[in-house]
Amino acid sequence: MLKGKTIILGVTGGIAVYKAADVVSRLKKQGANVEVIMTDGAMEFVNPLTFQTMSNNPVHNSMFNKIEKFNVEHISLAQKADIILVAPATANTIGKIANGIADNLLTTVIMASNAKIIFAPAMNTAMYTNPIFQSNMKKLEDLGYEFISPGVGILACGDYGAGKMAEPEYIVEYIRGALMEKDLLGQRIVITAGPTIEPIDPVRYITNHSSGKMGYSLAREARDRGAEVVLISGPTHLSPPDGVKVVDINTTVEMFDEVGRYFNDCDVLIKSAAPSDYRPEKSMENKIKKKDGEIDELNIKFVRNPDIAEYFGAKKEEQIIVGFAAETDNLYEYASKKLKKKNFNFIVANDVTKRGAGFKSDTNIVTIIHQSGKIDEYPIMSKESVAKIIMDEISNIIKNKS
Ligand code: PMT
Repeated sequence: MLKGKTIILGVTGGIAVYKAADVVSRLKKQGANVEVIMTDGAMEFVNPLTFQTMSNNPVHNSMFNKIEKFNVEHISLAQKADIILVAPATANTIGKIANGIADNLLTTVIMASNAKIIFAPAMNTAMYTNPIFQSNMKKLEDLGYEFISPGVGILACGDYGAGKMAEPEYIVEYIRGALMEKDLLGQRIVITAGPTIEPIDPVRYITNHSSGKMGYSLAREARDRGAEVVLISGPTHLSPPDGVKVVDINTTVEMFDEVGRYFNDCDVLIKSAAPSDYRPEKSMENKIKKKDGEIDELNIKFVRNPDIAEYFGAKKEEQIIVGFAAETDNLYEYASKKLKKKNFNFIVANDVTKRGAGFKSDTNIVTIIHQSGKIDEYPIMSKESVAKIIMDEISNIIKNKS
């Protein structure tokens, strides 16, 4: 995802340095080239060897290294950066940059670079809320520097409050978003995700295996490309993606109502959820009890739920609607029928019996069937990569419309 990108990670002296090693590891996993600059303060906390090993690059620290080949280090680092991330960023380093002080390699590289600069502050609450620090931060924000807000919690000093560096997972997501082309800027995209649950009584329900991973990956990709995203989600164990409006629902009828609330004003609707087609006719008010002496059977009558995709497919005007098809056999035939019946612009078919495809897994194996009859088959890939392909298709449809 970050292949071909160079991230300069500035590590300054705070206890959250240990989390910065995790940031490097996550950036590397996404394919980025990471060059670490440590301040002297950071080196008091962690040996540079840690960052050298994680980044697979020598760690930079001094402005005055012996020159082996002529290459002014602060200028070459400043020029090769796609992004400069400072994590953890101390009040001291932020203060220096806000006031034009360049007295070490990191502050000098920042001064010399045209790349986007992002800070992940980490400090004691009293320092974070100090008006001097706040005004330095405001000054930099006004100049286009970005800040990843620290979390609230118990800090290393034992105090409670704001100042905990954001979690590495979140920082890397932020970087990924910052580097993406904003080709979906201005698009309002509604995405449905996860299963629905249909109650039988107060303690039991029927559901399916959907984890929400596919839909949540779509939401993150759309957000990172500039779209305004509403994620209508059945119950999942996933963390709500930042910067996305998440609407929680339980049943198919609730999902239908929420899609209805957002449909008229949206540009794109993506139906990646697995809503239940049927629900018990009646949800019992009290728990159904086993009764002695009665026959060993329990009959529950099910009634049809609305088909959300079909209903809004019939109503669509300018909207792009993307459907999914979860099949166990006759993938092309069944998916093609759904494409037409539900009036989708294209359908993403997955054979949920295949290993690494469909429910729960981090990967999927999809075939996209277009209205024209064109079929694109894809190999196994992460759900993030599937989300990228789907957003590329949507982006092309939008470009061709205008
Ligand atoms: O959530 P994950 O664990 O990551 O798994 C991903 C997934 C397998 C759920 C996803 O890739 C997927 O295939 N989603 C569609 C599941 C499904 O309900 O497929 P379907 O073939 O039954 O329905 C066809 C389309 O109609 C789907 O877009 C579905 O959202 C929609 N539908 C179905 C029933 C219903 N009552 N209303 C609907 O809108």
